[in-house]
This record gives sequence, C-alpha cells and structure tokens, in this order.
Amino acid sequence: MAEQTHPMLRPLPDGIVPEEVVARTERRWLTLMVSMLIVMLVVVVLTSALGALHPASNVEVIQPLTLHLGGEFVESNLGTEIEPDGSATVRLIAEQYAFVPHCVEVPANRPVRFRLTSADVVHGFLLPDTNVNTMVVPGFVAEVRTRFSHVGEYDMPCHEFCGLGHHAMWTHVIVTDPSTFANHTLLERTRCGRQQ
Ligand code: CUA
Repeated sequence: MAEQTHPMLRPLPDGIVPEEVVARTERRWLTLMVSMLIVMLVVVVLTSALGALHPASNVEVIQPLTLHLGGEFVESNLGTEIEPDGSATVRLIAEQYAFVPHCVEVPANRPVRFRLTSADVVHGFLLPDTNVNTMVVPGFVAEVRTRFSHVGEYDMPCHEFCGLGHHAMWTHVIVTDPSTFANHTLLERTRCGRQQ
C-alpha cells in the first residue's frame, strides 16, 4: 500500500496555489481590512470630537397634523425670536417642498437655537461648513444649537430625499450684525430684505 504523504508536501500540478501561500495572502488581506476599519473608526471619533458633532440630546414629540392650528409652530411664531438673555431662537417648518419661512435672519456672535419640525415626511436640515446637520422627522421637534462668528449667507438645502420636488427645497439663513438685525422688523427677518 502506498504511503500517505502530507498534503502540503505533495507535488502540485501546474496552476494550483499551495495552501500556505493562500493562508499567508488571506492573513495579509485580513490585516489590511482590519487596519482600514480601525482608521475609519478613529476618523469618526476624531471628527465628532473635534467638530462638536453629537447625537440629538432631546426627544420632543409634536402632533404634525395640527401644527398650523396652535402651539409653538403656528405661522405667526415662525422665524427668529430674540430671548431675554439675548440669544436667538429660530423656528421653522419643513414641508413638501419648502421651508417656512423661506429665509431667516439671525444675529452674529449670539447663541442660536434652531427648532424645526416636519408637517409631512422626513426632511433634512444642513448648514454647509457648520456643525448644523439634522433630520427633521414628522412627529418630533429637532433642535440644534450653534453660533455664527461671521456675517454671511448660507444656502440651506433639504438633504434628505423627500419626493419629486426635493431638489427645489431650499431656504437661506442670513447672518447679520446684531445692530443691523435689531433694526429689522419681524417681517424683514423672514424675507431677508427681498421681495417674496
Ligand atoms: Cu425636503 Cu428633501
């Protein structure tokens, strides 16, 4: 009877890769993939720590069907309001396919609190190059706090696909000097000095 040889020692026909080579290659790929995962995890942790990104800290529910009838999000209460401590609170409704109001003016160098809710489906609220980025989910109030150090204008696109008109869903946030802001009427603050 022929003697059994270890499979690793058997001469291999052409084109067959030896088992140890396969094992070594797999180990290298595995090391590469695990390293990439670690790098990505570190990037996520670092960007969230340095960019002050954090999950929403509040859960507030609201009835989306009656927003226009009363409560915090009635039309007359939307836009920017200055609190007794000098900070600004901005209330917005996201709906297919607009933000109401279409434009909001906020003062620079003051704490700003955005409060949003949706009247229909899930929308997104994002101010490019800032830490303001949240989903606007019907039934909930999304709150984001920030502070603008410069006067300027932000285009604010809805960044969650919400239907056929999603691409046209925009608003503007205009950051003005606090003294200029104080001279504007409530109506001017929601129109940013434009005819709309
Ligand atoms: Cu609203 Cu996309």
